Amino acid sequence: MSNYETILVEKRGSVAVLTINRPDKLNALGYKVHQEGVAALEELRKDSEVRVVVITGAGEKSFIAGADISEFTGKTPVTQRNIFQEKTLFNSIDAFPKPIIAMINGFCLGGGCEVALACDIRIASEKAKLGQPEINLGIIPGGGGTQRLTRLIGEGKSMEMILTGDMIDAHTAFNLGLVNHVYPVDELEAKTMELANKIAEKSPIALQMAKEAVKLAAKSNLDEGLRREVDLFAICFSSQDKEEGVAAFLEKRKPVFTGK
Ligand code: COA
Repeated sequence: MSNYETILVEKRGSVAVLTINRPDKLNALGYKVHQEGVAALEELRKDSEVRVVVITGAGEKSFIAGADISEFTGKTPVTQRNIFQEKTLFNSIDAFPKPIIAMINGFCLGGGCEVALACDIRIASEKAKLGQPEINLGIIPGGGGTQRLTRLIGEGKSMEMILTGDMIDAHTAFNLGLVNHVYPVDELEAKTMELANKIAEKSPIALQMAKEAVKLAAKSNLDEGLRREVDLFAICFSSQDKEEGVAAFLEKRKPVFTGK
């Protein structure tokens, strides 16, 4: 892996942990973080040893406290639009073919919440605080918040979060379906790695097809989604992993998936 200034990447077996590393700025998403995050994800995409990625923030206080507000000063609309239409962490996570889990260890605000929303699964510590506070700056979410949050928790709850800019605690986020699990601070990492490792044992081909199929539910109408699901299901039948999975079941043993 390359060395990055604002990102740390650690491989733990088949799970890679990508940490946004600007704890003194509560891991705010500056332009450089986007650039380096996109590059790191590209490396992890190509690395066949890596089957699942966990994204988190450095330090004990914050996952990501939003876009780097200091970079908003003096930006013209066209420049800001171009920056957000370029390769951003939001888009790279969304297009990433392997499962990505957000391990939310603290403030998860604005662009941070949008990073978490682009991930496949969100796991929060009890002290996490989530929100879309852009309205307090006189702007609105621009990294997918209005779309992904609304698809995940529904229009009314999403509208309230976005129009008030209020933060919610982890248990409220759980009740809204915004996070999958909430754990005490000292259990967050172990529980997240447990889930990541469990997923990493599955066939990487089936994981990719499953992820693509599930994401289609928010991106297509039902007929189109069902048609594509059958195609993706059928593609799995071209893999050795499918032969292995079926044989292992019939032979009453644990399958060993190779990603072929
Ligand atoms: N962009 C740039 N810098 C940020 C930041 C952001 N989104 N969030 C925090 N920081 C910086 C602070 O400016 C401060 O830097 P400094 O020490 O050089 O002054 C440092 O991180 C620590 O933050 P601080 O505000 O002192 O911590 P706090 O515990 O008092 O408050 C928050 C924490 C998260 C409530 C507060 O930092 C905050 O509201 N951040 C902005 C959240 C936001 O609006 N995000 C959406 C952006 S579109």
